[in-house]
Amino acid sequence: MYRVVFSQVLQRLDAEDAHRATVRALAAISRVRPLNRAIHRRLAPHDPALRVSAFGVHFPSPFGLAAGFDKNAVCFEALAAFGFGHVEVGTVTAHAQPGNARPRLFRLPAQRAVINRMGFNNDGAAKVARRLARVRGVPVVVGVNIGKTKVVPESRAVADYVASARALADRADYLVVNVSSPNTPGLRDLQAVERLRPLLTAVREVTESLPRRTPLLVKIAPDLADEDVDAVADLAVELGLDGIIATNTTIRRDGVPSTEAGGLSGRPLKERSLEVLRRLYARVGDRLTLVSVGGVEDVDDVWERLLAGATLVQGYTAMVYEGPLWAARINRALSRRLRLHGHSSIQEVIGKTAPARTGRDA
Ligand SMILES: Cc1cc2nc3c(=O)[nH]c(=O)nc-3n(C[C@H](O)[C@H](O)[C@H](O)COP(=O)(O)O)c2cc1C
Repeated sequence: MYRVVFSQVLQRLDAEDAHRATVRALAAISRVRPLNRAIHRRLAPHDPALRVSAFGVHFPSPFGLAAGFDKNAVCFEALAAFGFGHVEVGTVTAHAQPGNARPRLFRLPAQRAVINRMGFNNDGAAKVARRLARVRGVPVVVGVNIGKTKVVPESRAVADYVASARALADRADYLVVNVSSPNTPGLRDLQAVERLRPLLTAVREVTESLPRRTPLLVKIAPDLADEDVDAVADLAVELGLDGIIATNTTIRRDGVPSTEAGGLSGRPLKERSLEVLRRLYARVGDRLTLVSVGGVEDVDDVWERLLAGATLVQGYTAMVYEGPLWAARINRALSRRLRLHGHSSIQEVIGKTAPARTGRDA
């Protein structure tokens, strides 16, 4: 059904117009509480075997929605109702900003991919914080992903992230420092350990100072060299971070016939994203929670990431092609897969096919 709607209607709309219409519809559903609750009863994950705990937070399913879909925290309740075990809102910046000029979002259906150069269009930390403070109609785990305001010079980046963290950390089930989007000039340079250390240290001071400390994660790019992935992993362990989200979109274009600038996501990202996950798990094992994202399309992908050491798995691009029932389908298939393999909990699967650890303390 969705395939027909997609090919006959949505695909003919500009990609960003289609996205906006979807977000508006989901925001409307979020506001109609009885409807949202009815959808939640039917589609949200209720199988106890799917529950996972990470950094002190309980997730109803390991599968969640990656950052960038609900940038302004307007429809996360509906997204949870449609089956996502968590929703990562943002990227939010300290100051509201319009993002790059349109067009800035492009579908590549033949490759099951998307290219975006949105540039952190968002309403700013204060407004998003107010939305997150509202009483919720359904239970939902909300991560908040923060980034740098474009007009703030790189020399003031730390203070800018700290301002976002102050506004948002106590409203978040976990906070993510995003240093990996390709669409804010200079942002990814913050992944270099000598720049990342002061940034993460300063944000961590904020998250640790709260009465209920907020778990802190960092989101990295797939384009980092392997040694740099290791260096970020070591730093995250050293600073006592809770986890790493890998990966953001790529600036590579291997086999993708598009010259549009921006970050590529979806199927072409699958292999590298999995490679980075395996590398991270070999390096840090269960000292950090690993969240795998990039090219996840179906239950096989989710299963593979869990086996490779991810505690949580996220997706975004495949939903464009699979439609609103995507998460619910994955949860159902995950329940069946667990039972088929004789497991009673997701937690039993995590890291089961990871090779023997080769990291520093192997
Ligand atoms: C349109 C679009 C906007 C995105 N915006 C953000 C963002 O604001 N912050 C972020 O950390 N990642 C953002 N992402 C990256 C996703 O969170 C995810 O890391 C990436 O798309 C890989 O997953 P996928 O292949 O399942 O889409 C965006 C992705 C897309 C397609």
